[in-house]
Amino acid sequence: MPENTPRTDASWVSSPNPTLYSPRNLARYKRLVGELSHTYAWRIDNTALAGLYAEHVSARHLEIGPADAEMLATTPPPAPPEQWRVDVLDINTAPLAHAQQRLSGRAQVTAHLHDILAAPWPGLSRTFTSIAMGNVLHCVPGAGFTAKATAFNGLVDALTDDGVAFGYTLLGAGDPDADHNLPARLLMRAYNKPGRNTFHNRGDRLVDLERQLNLRFAQVDVRVMHSAAVFVVRGPIR
Ligand SMILES: C[S@@+](CC[C@H](N)C(=O)[O-])C[C@H]1O[C@@H](n2cnc3c(N)ncnc32)[C@H](O)[C@@H]1O
Repeated sequence: MPENTPRTDASWVSSPNPTLYSPRNLARYKRLVGELSHTYAWRIDNTALAGLYAEHVSARHLEIGPADAEMLATTPPPAPPEQWRVDVLDINTAPLAHAQQRLSGRAQVTAHLHDILAAPWPGLSRTFTSIAMGNVLHCVPGAGFTAKATAFNGLVDALTDDGVAFGYTLLGAGDPDADHNLPARLLMRAYNKPGRNTFHNRGDRLVDLERQLNLRFAQVDVRVMHSAAVFVVRGPIR
C-alpha cells in the first residue's frame, strides 16, 4: 500500500483529485481515455505506445501516474513475476491500489503516494532501469514545462546511468507545433477550466519540453503525435 498515508501533504505543489481518479472512473478509464479520447481527440496511436512499453520496460521499472495500469498489465513481462519489480508513484491513492491489484501475480509492486512536483521523490535515487510517465505532465500545474522542472529532475535522479525514461504528454492548445483537431481543442478548453484540476497544459509547448529534456539527458528523442509529444531519454546528466 502507499508509503505515506496522508491524502494531502502541505509540501506538495499539486493537489490530488480523488473524485476524478476514483475506483469507478479507473474501471472505465480504458474505454473513455485510452480508446475514445486517444482515437477521436488526441489521435494517439495506442499501438505505438504499446511498442514503447514492449521495447523499454525493464525488470526494475517505475511507473509514474499509472491510473488503471493498462499498459503495464498488457505489456510482455520483462521477467518472471518474482523477478519483475515495479514501483508505482501517484498523488492519488486509488490508482496506486488499482495498479497493485491489477499487477499482482505479474510483478512485485511497491507504491509511493507522492506529487511529482514535490522534491525529493521518496528515496528512489538511481534505482530504475526504466521509467514511464505517460499522460501525466499535462495534468500537473504550471505555466509551462519550465514550471514543471521538478518532475524532470525527479526522472534524472531516479534513473540509473544506463536506464531509459519515456512518456507522452498532451501539448497546449496554443502550441504551434501540435496538431490539434476540434474535439481536442474543445476538450482541452473544458479540462483546463480553473478549479477543475484535470488538465494544466495551456502553456505547455514542444520547444520547452525539448529544452527541459536536453538540459538533463544526453540522448533525447521527442516527436509529435498529433496532440501529444512522445519522448524517450537516456543518459541522465547529474
Ligand atoms: C491521465 S492519467 C495517466 C494514466 C496512464 N499513465 C496513461 O498513460 O494514460 C494521470 C495519472 O497521473 C496521476 N497524477 C496526476 N497528477 C499527479 C502528480 N502531481 N503527481 C503524481 N501523479 C499524478 C493521476 O492520479 C493519474 O494516475
